[in-house]
Amino acid sequence: MFVLPVYLLLASAFGCHAKIYNAVSDLPSLSYDFVIVGGGTAGSVVANRLTENPDFSVLVLEAGVTNEGVVDSEAPFFVVDMLANPIWSYNYLSTPQAGLNGRVVPYARARILGGCSSHNGMYYTRGTREDYDRYAALTGDQGWSWDHLLPYFFKNERWTAPADGHDTQGQFDPHVHSTRGLTSVSLTGFSYSASARVIQTTAELQDEFPFNLDMNSGTPLGVGWLQETIGGGERSSAATAYLAPQFQQRPNLHILLNAQVSRLVADTGNDGVAFHSVEFSQDQFVASRKEIILSAGVIGTPQILQASGVGNKTDLQALGLHTLLDLPSVGRNASDHPVLSVTWAVNSTDTLDEVRQNATRLAAAVVEWDATKTGPVTAIGVTHVGWNRINDDLLIQFGDGAAGPATPHVELMFTAGSFGGLMPGHFFSIGTAVVAPLSRGSVMLNRTHPLTGPPLIDPGLLSNEFDVVALREGIKMARQFVTAKVWEGYILNEADSFVNATTDAELDAAVRAIAGTSSHLVGTAGMSARDAAYGVVDPDLLVKGARGLRIIDASVLPIVPAAHTQAATYVIAERGADLVKAAWA
Ligand SMILES: Cc1cc2nc3c(=O)[nH]c(=O)nc-3n(C[C@H](O)[C@H](O)[C@H](O)COP(=O)(O)OP(=O)(O)OC[C@H]3O[C@@H](n4cnc5c(N)ncnc54)[C@H](O)[C@@H]3O)c2cc1C
Ligand SMILES: *[C@@H]1O[C@H](CO)[C@@H](O)[C@H](O)[C@H]1NC(C)=O
Ligand SMILES: *[C@@H]1O[C@H](CO)[C@@H](O)[C@H](O)[C@H]1NC(C)=O
Ligand SMILES: *[C@@H]1O[C@H](CO)[C@@H](O)[C@H](O)[C@H]1NC(C)=O
Ligand SMILES: *[C@@H]1O[C@H](CO)[C@@H](O)[C@H](O)[C@H]1NC(C)=O
Ligand SMILES: *[C@@H]1O[C@H](CO)[C@@H](O)[C@H](O)[C@H]1NC(C)=O
Ligand SMILES: *[C@@H]1O[C@H](CO)[C@@H](O)[C@H](O)[C@H]1NC(C)=O
Repeated sequence: MFVLPVYLLLASAFGCHAKIYNAVSDLPSLSYDFVIVGGGTAGSVVANRLTENPDFSVLVLEAGVTNEGVVDSEAPFFVVDMLANPIWSYNYLSTPQAGLNGRVVPYARARILGGCSSHNGMYYTRGTREDYDRYAALTGDQGWSWDHLLPYFFKNERWTAPADGHDTQGQFDPHVHSTRGLTSVSLTGFSYSASARVIQTTAELQDEFPFNLDMNSGTPLGVGWLQETIGGGERSSAATAYLAPQFQQRPNLHILLNAQVSRLVADTGNDGVAFHSVEFSQDQFVASRKEIILSAGVIGTPQILQASGVGNKTDLQALGLHTLLDLPSVGRNASDHPVLSVTWAVNSTDTLDEVRQNATRLAAAVVEWDATKTGPVTAIGVTHVGWNRINDDLLIQFGDGAAGPATPHVELMFTAGSFGGLMPGHFFSIGTAVVAPLSRGSVMLNRTHPLTGPPLIDPGLLSNEFDVVALREGIKMARQFVTAKVWEGYILNEADSFVNATTDAELDAAVRAIAGTSSHLVGTAGMSARDAAYGVVDPDLLVKGARGLRIIDASVLPIVPAAHTQAATYVIAERGADLVKAAWA
């Protein structure tokens, strides 16, 4: 017989939907075993996993608003609209980027439950076996190796049929996927005619662009079908998956929205620095009886650490802040993927641009999605991705950011339209990114308003010459891709501002003039070996030199993986939650 837990019955009896609070005055307690700072991608996972233990009480403090009812977040096609809306965003700008001719670029970060998983591009790419084995080597902890993390990828992933129910045989390898996790992952639920041409190209140009059955096997080189965090035609975010209503109902989980954390508070005594409470929403305090888990993301985490006196002592002194812990790596060693798009006008109206720009077509697509969760609104228009290496002679000359010989330098994102469908006309485009960068950047407090304003976000884009060379080679690869016979009569002309750039010098100039960010910044609270002279957290993600403070989010990844970063963030969070559980067993 199936018996509903008592608290579920009570909840429905009182019409109480969720333990999500909007005001601190509604919070039932100001003392919890664990206080999680940031209900984003990683924070939502940790909140879910820790509250599996009914003896743990957990509070999530999230600066943003609820994700519920935000259609632009739910509908994959509208990701561009989601990103353009300042309500769901911190609206950050980078510092002037020397590598980009001094340009300032927008730096997107989500201010909403689920964090960036509620507004990102939904690409599900894990990275390479070598990426994770490099993390294991850097930290001296085999727990971060590919083989040891695979069960955590599986714990996160719920492989799901695509929205259009098409036959997916030959489009992925079921052996490297799991159907038992919480985050829905699927192949595209809607294809344009360009998609078949991409696959035909892997046959025609086999040497340069071989077909790869599954880019999430640990060896992604080649071109394969893109997998996305989409299920049933809707985005699967950390909020919709890990904070779904049945989890929100747990009596030991409280979530407070609109709660901006300013500082973590510690006692310093003979036995070191012991963190015990969190200051938020102007002069409110909540106590952590076991640990504070900092999950505020790659910008928020180093910002809060420095505001709390954890960072480079010289820098903190210059800001007039007292140093609790001298950890000079805080905010440093950030790495990111520079990106640009190569675009061609096409002889077809079957593109994402048509859906976006033809009001009749768009209205029909929205009606279809509302009714059955099928059609173009279930997809972003990118059906395939390629992963490629640049020539060895260039590596000898400029260095190599890849974790090993089976790791790509360049990613190619094949899109049945212009970026977001925003350019008037009909297009095919190839988003081109450097996924093994050597540039490094930082996130530091701004001297003029260290505690009240946004930090200085310097992703250091193209500050290392290698990244310029790799992006230039990426443009050449993209142009070569559309020389396959299958594109004849389809591709009309390149539509880029740099269409006439062909020499290396001309391409390098174009790269510096147009490149932007993929928003894949990591590393601002990097993990390192216990005895390393640098780093912010140890391999168990505990802040070095402190007690009661762990960091679980993308900022602990010491080097950006050759992949979009949410899958890596999910495994960090899944394993991180297990480390916390083990510490308090
Ligand atoms: C525009 C964009 C597109 C992307 N596309 C993809 C993609 O297609 N595929 C992919 O794999 N990756 C993608 N990424 C990257 C990926 O989404 C992130 O790396 C990942 O989600 C980061 O997770 P996180 O938990 O570290 O941080 P976040 O998800 O950003 O979570 C941090 C949370 O902390 C909260 N917070 C911050 N400061 C405070 C504070 N002071 N007090 C309280 N709360 C605070 C924030 O509101 C947020 O909810 C994209 C990122 C962006 C921005
Ligand atoms: C700390 O910051 C100062 C000033 O920015 C810098 O000169 C110094 O190298 C930093 N220390 C370390 C160990 O990185
Ligand atoms: C950056 O990381 C490298 C290792 O990849 C390390 O040697 C260096 O000390 C780090 N720098 C800082 C400031 O943490
Ligand atoms: C817009 O889309 C509708 C429906 O697909 C189509 O019938 C119509 O011809 C399109 N309009 C233009 C101007 O292309
Ligand atoms: C630092 O803050 C000041 C004051 O708000 C602002 O004018 C300045 O542009 C900021 N610095 C940077 C590099 O963003
Ligand atoms: C466009 O495609 C049509 C067939 O669909 C073909 O007849 C025509 O030649 C193409 N135009 C160009 C410029 O290639
Ligand atoms: C490229 O060169 C052609 C031929 O000289 C010229 O007509 C065109 O305007 C140039 N395009 C751009 C974007 O500079």
